Amino acid sequence: MLDSAGREARHVAGLWWFMFVVAVAVYVLVAAMVVIGVLRRRAAEPEEGGDRTGFVWWGGIVMPVVILGVLAYLTVSTTTALGRNAPSNLEIDVTGHDWWWEVRYPESGLRTANEVHIPVDRTVELRLHSADVLHSFWVPRLAGKVDMVPEQTNPLRIRAERTGTFLGECAEFCGLQHANMRFVVVVQTAEDYAQWVVAGQAPSTAAQGAALFERQTCAGCHTISGTQADGTVGPDLTDFGSRQWIGAKAVPNTPENLLRWIRDPGSIKPGVLMPPSQLPDSELRALVAYLESLR
Ligand code: CUA
Repeated sequence: MLDSAGREARHVAGLWWFMFVVAVAVYVLVAAMVVIGVLRRRAAEPEEGGDRTGFVWWGGIVMPVVILGVLAYLTVSTTTALGRNAPSNLEIDVTGHDWWWEVRYPESGLRTANEVHIPVDRTVELRLHSADVLHSFWVPRLAGKVDMVPEQTNPLRIRAERTGTFLGECAEFCGLQHANMRFVVVVQTAEDYAQWVVAGQAPSTAAQGAALFERQTCAGCHTISGTQADGTVGPDLTDFGSRQWIGAKAVPNTPENLLRWIRDPGSIKPGVLMPPSQLPDSELRALVAYLESLR
């Protein structure tokens, strides 16, 4: 918590250190007065009958009120500063379940669990929900705790200032496996985050490609074991993604070359028996994603 990696945690850690210093000073002062009192008794000095009302007023009322007043002011102003984060254009829905975390990215349509990816140096708005009971979302190095309440949405704006992987946990007792309700927040550079989004979208693209492969003419000539495709005219493509070349060492196996090959194999290898494809680009790309995923 004190090794902050985000704007919110930095504010909280600053307040923590101030409170720590004040608490140590009060402790040292009170302990010193106790010791002095004990030593004076030991010295067996005759009882002074002096008036101690002033000491009680200053030490017992004025000082505590001033100290607690300063701490209260700083606590409120820190809380206000946390709420003053710039508006965010990246929203992420996080839902607490017994006992795991659902993570949805409305912007890109991604869904994941127990792992939140965010870009560094960008304000992110987390919308916190609960599917069942009270949970509390806490990533100590990034921000303070915010409760997740059923049928309610609690916003938490965070801004990570360092890349890395930060541990998070549920901070509200929620049942038997409360202690095993943990997650990580992966803070990435803008480029890495964009790549993660693209990679996350790939499986659905590949699934679309798989359906196309079986529906289109591909399956009449090629086999991919475990699927309906069982043609034997052309090469078996079961582990195509792990091969180094396309077309019997015609061109290296890259997604760009594969796209060219499927669109018009004759442009790479004139006279080849595989016919050109009439599919639109989006479907060609889905086929490429699928074939390159075969290992
Ligand atoms: Cu969820 Cu504790």
